Amino acid sequence: MAAMAILHGLSPTPVERSRVLEIACGDGANLIPAAYAVPSSEFVGFDLARLPVERGQRRIAELGLRNIRLFQLDLLAAGADLGRFDYIIAHGLYSWSPEPVRDRLLALISDLLTDDGVAFISFNAMPGGQLRSMVRDMMLFGAKDVEDPEQQVVEGFRFLRLVMEGLPQNDVYRALIESQLQRMEDKNPKVTRHDELSEIYYPVYFTEFVEHAHRHGLEYLSEAQLPAPSDCGYRIEPESELATMAGPDFLRHEQMLDFVRMRAYRETLVCRPGRGIRRGFPPEHFRRLLFATQAAPAPGQGGNPTAFVMPGGMRMESNHPKVSALLLALGAAWPRAVSWDELEPRLARVGLALDADGVGLIMRLSIARMVELRTWNPRAAHEIAARPRASACSRHQALGSPYVTSLLHTSWTFEDAKIRRLLMLLDGTRDRSGLLAAMRAEFPEASEQDLEAGIEHGLELFLRSGVLEA
Ligand SMILES: C[S@@+](CC[C@H](N)C(=O)[O-])C[C@H]1O[C@@H](n2cnc3c(N)ncnc32)[C@H](O)[C@@H]1O
Repeated sequence: MAAMAILHGLSPTPVERSRVLEIACGDGANLIPAAYAVPSSEFVGFDLARLPVERGQRRIAELGLRNIRLFQLDLLAAGADLGRFDYIIAHGLYSWSPEPVRDRLLALISDLLTDDGVAFISFNAMPGGQLRSMVRDMMLFGAKDVEDPEQQVVEGFRFLRLVMEGLPQNDVYRALIESQLQRMEDKNPKVTRHDELSEIYYPVYFTEFVEHAHRHGLEYLSEAQLPAPSDCGYRIEPESELATMAGPDFLRHEQMLDFVRMRAYRETLVCRPGRGIRRGFPPEHFRRLLFATQAAPAPGQGGNPTAFVMPGGMRMESNHPKVSALLLALGAAWPRAVSWDELEPRLARVGLALDADGVGLIMRLSIARMVELRTWNPRAAHEIAARPRASACSRHQALGSPYVTSLLHTSWTFEDAKIRRLLMLLDGTRDRSGLLAAMRAEFPEASEQDLEAGIEHGLELFLRSGVLEA
């Protein structure tokens, strides 16, 4: 949120000295790792549901965190006594709530946001929401008499498949239903139950949302993330009829693109009006950002001197000296993010400067998710210590699930039982031989060699994931 605000010319409160509010925070799955990672900031979360809040409160007590509080509260009863916040988050609420709650949500954000504050609101968008709404109606029809939430998803899918099977193979309607079914089948059924089958499903056009926010004294800033490289916004020629029709009005242009994208969902940032938003990414905004890459260099193919590989396996070949110089400089610093002032002397040698060309290159790499834009550096380790310590929050998460949040606030899935056990052992008291002895006791069937190799692999993985503490 801070990086997008700076990219658009705002001066948000530094992340490490801020107050953060999450409205409808559930059990604090998002807020607790953030509070752990930024101990100098204050975090507040509330939710209507008592049980998840109590679960979150237990986790906070077990971790001994003093900069976060969660409590049960109805948004309709929340008010100015909460204080003001530099960052406000409301995820999964707007499109799933009745009108009075939606309206109060924006009013509350407007009441509580500081002058330089940034708020995140996710919502279902049109026109894609129209198609999802049709598919939802069919699923609800198919699951009409079913009580169990997960079984509703099973029955809903079954009915969609029945409808599909009644249609010819190359039918357009069939293809639409199939694409929606595939999208939902890739997700956790609990998420599908909430996102698609909850009692209220209220998708809105982008311009409608922006007008609603405007009525409450909030202005559209940007999306929370840069668009994907495949986004039609990068394909439509500026002199095309579509672009001419949109004219210079940015909001109208965005709405027009949503029709082309058949957009169904947005994660939108808003701020106070008149804060001097500047679009078009002027170079001076980049001086206030930090840059990082997870990409590791690898030998290139076909005469290219260098390839860069991301953790998920995404690979980019480059014979562009400026790209290679930037990624090599950032890769060597990972997980630390580096300022332009620090990079400048090294990159000047290959002629990479913060001019229009340089900004274009950084933006292309950011859109390709090869470069991250950040505003601060967490306490993540740069190298593996003699007695490595993983964040207490990640060790606590690993106790009960494969999902772990790093100090960089990224999510990782560690399915392997040995890897998870190793993570839990990393409390800073054990050196390599202590870790080996503990792993040997836990996994007596494994060979010494395998355990040693597993420990090295695990430590390297945790270092690169940003789970190890400096
Ligand atoms: C899908 S969950 C999202 C939880 C969390 N934000 C997340 O992204 O995981 C929606 C949450 O909104 C909460 N909620 C619904 N109406 C609310 C209200 N009037 N006041 C506070 N919370 C509410 C629900 O209890 C639920 O936890």
